[in-house]
Amino acid sequence: MRSSVLSLSSARDSLSATPPLERSVASALPTRLRPADLLRLTDEGAEDVLAGRYDHLLPANGVWPSDERWAARLLTDDEVDVWLISWTPGKSTELHDHAGSLGALTVLSGALSEFRWNGTELRRRVLSAGDQASFPIGWVHDVMRAPAQSVSDGSAQFVADSPAQFGASGAAHFATDGAVEPIDPALLEPTLSVHAYSPPLTAMSYYEVTGHGTLRRTRTVLTDQPEGDM
Ligand SMILES: [Fe+2]
Repeated sequence: MRSSVLSLSSARDSLSATPPLERSVASALPTRLRPADLLRLTDEGAEDVLAGRYDHLLPANGVWPSDERWAARLLTDDEVDVWLISWTPGKSTELHDHAGSLGALTVLSGALSEFRWNGTELRRRVLSAGDQASFPIGWVHDVMRAPAQSVSDGSAQFVADSPAQFGASGAAHFATDGAVEPIDPALLEPTLSVHAYSPPLTAMSYYEVTGHGTLRRTRTVLTDQPEGDM
């Protein structure tokens, strides 16, 4: 199994080769790890999960929780936490930041919708299996399982998603006759992603979009849970 110590050692080795000027700048940041280091850690974590190296941490009987987000801490030390998250339909994180931590993720399976505040509006992007993203300090976003499309019994299915700021959220099944029925989450493939935070998360602030097109911070909570409490 690849250890965090081994992974972080290589990250530190790369830092030791950093020119003096860049090192002085780096020392002013909250962590010695760079976004590229976090991206690599999540990539390695995803590889290890897919290789079965963390099977002992996965839900018993291979049944992923369908009601709430699920997470397991894969690695931890003083500088970084690495988590595996299973996402459930219709449950967004709410708009939030990661306080003083940098973040990164790699999607293993399924897809995530990210709604990021760009200063004037929320912009959506879809991160599919294999995609990565990093989050600098000050990044404010809402994340949830992306819509899933499948064909079952010849009828088209669509799982709608939207952040709380956009109105209703939840999983729905639009059958060919126009009827809307809930989809049994247990029938859906898991949406999994590996996340890294450095320094390890200690707090998150939550936000709402005002009617004037600005962000308002609604609360700050102490938490070490990835993407907020489940
Ligand atoms: Fe986040």
